[in-house]
Amino acid sequence: MDSQTRSSVLQAARVVQEALGEIPDRAVVLGSGLGVVAERMDKVRSLPFDRIPGFPPSTVPGHAGRLVAGELEGLPLLAFAGRVHGYEGYTQEQVALPVRLCHALGCRVLLTTNAVGAINRLLSPGDLVLLDDQINLMFRNPLRGVNDPELGPRFPDMSAPTDPAFNRLLRETALDLGIGLKTGVMAGLSGPSYETPAEIRMLQRLGADVVGMSTIPELIAARHLGLPVASISCVTNMAAGLSAQALDHTEVTDTAAEVREDFLRLVREGLSRFRPSGETATS
Ligand code: HPA
Repeated sequence: MDSQTRSSVLQAARVVQEALGEIPDRAVVLGSGLGVVAERMDKVRSLPFDRIPGFPPSTVPGHAGRLVAGELEGLPLLAFAGRVHGYEGYTQEQVALPVRLCHALGCRVLLTTNAVGAINRLLSPGDLVLLDDQINLMFRNPLRGVNDPELGPRFPDMSAPTDPAFNRLLRETALDLGIGLKTGVMAGLSGPSYETPAEIRMLQRLGADVVGMSTIPELIAARHLGLPVASISCVTNMAAGLSAQALDHTEVTDTAAEVREDFLRLVREGLSRFRPSGETATS
C-alpha cells in the first residue's frame, strides 16, 4: 500500500469515527445474503458506504452497502453490511479498503463471510465451510504497488492465509453449538460470470473445495497488516456441472437466508470467544 492509499484509509477512518463514535474491536464482513447479522444488531449507528471517503458503493443485490457499529446480543461489533468486488469494476485496492479501514480503526480481529459454490461433492447447499487455504485465480493482488513497511512486509507470508488459532476456536464453537462446520480450500475467480463445467473440473484437480468471487484480496490485505482473520463460507449451490440446475444469484441469496440462524449464532459466539493477543480471558 502506498502513501496515497494510506492517507485515504486514515481519512476514511476519521470520518467513520466522527459518524459512529466508539468503534467495536471485533469486525465482520457480511457476504451475499448474509446481512442478517447487521439486521439483528441493536444500539446501532450506521453509515452508508457512499458517505465514507474513497469507499466504493456496493452495486450487487443482497449487499446493503453500509457500515454498522452496535451490539449483537450484547457483543460490541462492527459490521460491513455488504462488500464490493473486482467484477463491479473496482481495483483490488478498493476491494481491500474495508480491511485496511478495520485496522486503522483499531479492530483486533476480522471475520469475513461469503457465498460460494461447492466443488467438492461431499459438500451441499446450506453447508458452512471454514476456509483454511485459498487459491488466488483472480490474477491480481491488493499489495501491488509501493509497499509501506510500517504497515506490513513487502512479501508477506501466506502459509496460513487465515489465523490458525481463530480457526480452531471457530471449530470448537461450532461443535459446542451443535452447528456443522466443514473446512476447505477456496478458489477465487474474478467473475461475474459463473464458471463453466470444464473450469470446475480444473478447479477440482487443483484441490479447491469451493469457489467464489470475493474474500481472496481481503485475506491477503489482512495478513499483510497482521490482522487476525478467519473466513466462513456459506455453500449456496453446487458449482457448474455438478447439478442439473443452472446457476442464478437468487439461489445464492435464498440458500444463504436458510442458514442464517446457525450462521448468526456461530458469528456471535465465535467472535465473542476470540481473545486478541494480550487480552486476558476475563477482560
Ligand atoms: N461460483 C462462484 N461464485 C459463487 C458461486 C459459484 O458457484 N456461488 C456463490 N458464489
